[in-house]
Order: sequence, then structure tokens, then C-alpha cells
Amino acid sequence: MNKREILTTKIKESKLGGGEKRIESQHAKGKLTARERIDLLLDQNSFEEIGALVKHRSTDFGMDKLHFPGDGVVTGYGTINGRLVYVFSQDFTVFGGSLSETHAEKICKIMDMAMKNGAPLIGLNDSGGARIQEGVVSLGGYADIFYKNTLASGVIPQISAIMGPCAGGAVYSPAITDFILMVENTSYMFVTGPNVVKTVTNEEVSSEDLGGASVHSEKSGVAHITAANDVECIENIKKLLSYMPQNCEEQPPKLDYTFDDELRFELKNIVPENAHQPYDIREVIAGVIDDDSFHEIHENFAPNIVVGFARLGGRSIGIVANQPSYLAGVLDVNSSQKGARFVRFCDCFNIPLLVFEDVPGFLPGTDQEWNAIITNGAKLLYAFSEATVPRITVITRKAYGGAYDVMNSKHIGADLNFAWPTAEIAVMGAKGAAEIIFKREIASADNPQEALIEKEQEYAGIFANPYRAAERGFVDAVILPENTRARLIKAFAMLENKVDKLPKKKHGNIPL
Ligand code: HXC
Repeated sequence: MNKREILTTKIKESKLGGGEKRIESQHAKGKLTARERIDLLLDQNSFEEIGALVKHRSTDFGMDKLHFPGDGVVTGYGTINGRLVYVFSQDFTVFGGSLSETHAEKICKIMDMAMKNGAPLIGLNDSGGARIQEGVVSLGGYADIFYKNTLASGVIPQISAIMGPCAGGAVYSPAITDFILMVENTSYMFVTGPNVVKTVTNEEVSSEDLGGASVHSEKSGVAHITAANDVECIENIKKLLSYMPQNCEEQPPKLDYTFDDELRFELKNIVPENAHQPYDIREVIAGVIDDDSFHEIHENFAPNIVVGFARLGGRSIGIVANQPSYLAGVLDVNSSQKGARFVRFCDCFNIPLLVFEDVPGFLPGTDQEWNAIITNGAKLLYAFSEATVPRITVITRKAYGGAYDVMNSKHIGADLNFAWPTAEIAVMGAKGAAEIIFKREIASADNPQEALIEKEQEYAGIFANPYRAAERGFVDAVILPENTRARLIKAFAMLENKVDKLPKKKHGNIPL
């Protein structure tokens, strides 16, 4: 028997697991049951259930005759790789996993415990939303959860897996949590479903096209990670947690590590000689970090910035990197939001930040301006400025214009800023700069084309390098690519006990 068959048998034998038909109905949809999911998520025999005998209190519509112990949600605590977590798992086979007053109370109870005991909360969502038979008490139950999600934000990591329907206001609990994972083809999230959309806008759209995993991972950015099935989704949750501390008072877990030969010659030839040629920043990331330790977040959304967790010398770090192979790594509305949200998470949970910078600036155009690139770009700027975790930047190539400031420059509090010899730190690219400041000389030259090239080279000679910035101390050291890993390991070790306090205030007003 494979693991899934063993689980299914175990659940069939369990008194509270529900009838065979209910299990089969989940499997027929390609989904695991609420209990199978918990079994896969937690260490063997670690799950302790709370509230298994809770019953709903509604009496309308003949509900007093319909009772399923646990009321459509399995709640409790257990361990993942030996670390305590709290979990709720909605059972779609009981009233469509819908949220009643008591269902909400069960979730709130373990949220309170998670907060008091400082351990992550994991929600496995599979629900038809507010229990229709209960009316306002179920809406109140949702609001109680939203409120607790908000209070828990920044105190304990909160992870939401969407493993079935998640509609209406119900989406706002996952939205407040730190990470949303969605299962392809079996999960969807929307505020109003296809029927309402058709009535209001006359638009015909399927659930999948309106709010399926691919829509939310590529277009809206609501989902941070997608998985092919329930098993993959649960594996992803475990991996994600491995980089995080239990709560905001703790440091992230550190793996054993001994400093060795950290030279990485493969980093030497990644940046092309021609500054206009793209390259994949993931190659740089892979060359610097511990082997295969990169866990990318938001992979399919705003690919011009790459964010994710990694390990460096055994230490958990968060990486934010411009991606020259997509839109030349330019900053736009979506990439700014993506980067800002990730920076905020890392700062909440004491995860040091490493930035790889190769950015030609902000994306010009009406689309960007009308969609508030000003406010959205400011989110990233604000998020970095406010972050008090150790912060290091490595400029691999371009650091132009406002984007130089925004991408974790020393001016906004970065602890160290390294640059590769290929770095170009300037207000803009040499050609654009020459066209503006030497406009008259070029126009009056016998050969304007040649004059432009000459002036471009002159400008590049002065600014298209890291040395001007290094003279000022804006760059702390110009380092060879092959030495980058060693320098970073030592630098993060040096910053291990960094203390940085923000001015006293109630809270800042991030440009939302
Ligand atoms: C009570 C519900 C339910 C609900 C489903 N069921 N949703 N019971 N309250 N919200 C029950 C069904 O009656 C059915 O019971 C069983 O669950 C399975 O549902 P099916 O419809 O047979 O399943 P399926 O075809 O897979 O469709 C799933 C579904 C659909 C798409 C989720 O059930 C659906 O549209 N449900 C209503 C969704 C909805 O509008 N919810 C309210 C959203 S607003 P039986 O006994 O037949 O097995 C909201 C407000 C939150 O949630 C506000 C917070 C601020």
C-alpha cells in the first residue's frame, strides 16, 4: 500500500472520519479529505485534535436533525519536523465545509492558542463560504477570524492553502495571512462568482478563468505558490515553514555549517559583456546560496523581480533580485508590490535580506502612471527603508536612477552594499544621458552620430562603473563575482546581532 492508500484506510477506520461515500466524493474530485491532508502535513502521530465533538447550534431548515461531530472543520495542533504548528482543515464533505458559528469558534480557538504559544497557523481551506442556513452568525464568525488574522499578522507566520472553493468575503482571511498556496484545477478564489459576474457585467467566465490557481498566480498575484495537487501543496507548506522562525521574537532556524572553500568561479561569466544582453538572475542566486536551497515565491507573477527564501552558510535569508531576462529587470507596479510584500514578511520575522540589483529604472508609460507606479514604487522604497533586519545589496550590473535608491541602497539603511566590477551606477544609461546633456554639441557636430557615440563613451567612462559610488562610500567594496558567496557569508555572520530601532510611533503609514 502506498502512503495515500494507508491514509485512506486509516480514515475509513476512524469513527470521526466520516463515511466512505464522503471520502470517495473528495477523491473523485482529485482532492484529499480534511484528515488526509492533516496526516500528510504533520509529523506522524503528532496531531492532537481539539473540538472533535463540537456540534452546530442552528435549528432552522431542519438543521437540528443534521449533526456531524466537529462541524465541518478539523482543528488542533501537531508538529512539522519537530516544530509546533496549529492547523485547521475544512471538511467539504460536511455542509460543503461551510462556516457556521461553531466552525468559526473552533478556528478562533486555535488561532488564540497559536498566538499565545507563538507558533505558526496553517489553514487548509475547502469551503462553500458562510453557512447559508445560519445567516448573520456565520458572517460574524468570519469577521472574528479576519480580526484575529489581523492581530496575528507579524506575530506568528500564517499560511493559507486553498484546496477547494473559497468564495465571497471568505477570501479575506487568506488575503490577510502571509502566504497563499493554491492547488491547480481544484481550487478557486473570488469575491463574486461567475453567476453574479454574469448578472452584473454580462460577462461569461468559468470559475477557473475567474479565480483559478493560474489566474491568481500570474495575473492578480493573490496566490504566492501553486501546486499540481494536494500532496505537492502540503510539501510546499512544509518547505516554506522551514525558513521561518516560530514567531516574531525568535530567529529563523539555522542549519549546521562550516566555512569552507567558498569560491564560486561559475559566477564569473554570468553577466554578459554587452550591457544590453539579458541573463538569468537565478543563475547568480544559485551560484551564491547553499546548494538547491532557493524556494521561490510568486514565481509566475511580475517575473521582472525574483523573490524567495534561501540558505546561505546554513542561515535563512530572503532574496529580492531584479531579473534582467524579463523586461530588462525594470521596476513596475506589480514587481514593486511583489517585492514590498516579501520584504515586509522577512522583516516581520527576522529573516535577513539579500538584494541582487540590475535595474534600468522604473517602467515609463501611461499604463504605469495611471496605475499608480508612484504609490506602488513607494511601497518598495518604504518597505526597505523600514526594514531593520540585516540588509545587504550586491549590484551586479545596472543601478540606474530612482531604482538605485529604492533597491536597498545604503542611503535607505542597507548595512552593506557590494558591487561587481561590471556595475554601472548612474542617473541613467550612458546613451540617454549623453543625448540630454550633450544635446547641443551633438546637434552641431559634423557627424552627430559619431559625436553621440563619443559622448556616450565619455559619460560611460565616468559613471558606468562602481568606482564613483565606492569613492563616496555608497558602495562598501567592489568584489569579484567568485568571492561573493564568501563575502556574504562573513557579512551576514557579522550582522547577526544587529539592533536597529525605528522612531517611536503608533505605526507608520505605508503608501497602500
Ligand atoms: C451551506 C453549503 C454551502 C453553504 C455548499 N453547501 N455551500 N451548505 N452553506 N455556503 C452544501 C451543499 O448544499 C451540498 O450539500 C454540499 O455543501 C456540497 O455542495 P455542492 O453544491 O453539491 O458541491 P459543488 O457542486 O462542488 O459546488 C460547490 C460550491 C457550491 C461551488 C461551493 O456549493 C456553492 O456555490 N455554494 C454556495 C457558495 C456561496 O455562495 N457561499 C456564500 C458565499 S458568501 P448536500 O447536502 O447536497 O451534500 C460568503 C460570505 C462570507 O461566504 C462573508 C464574510 C464577510
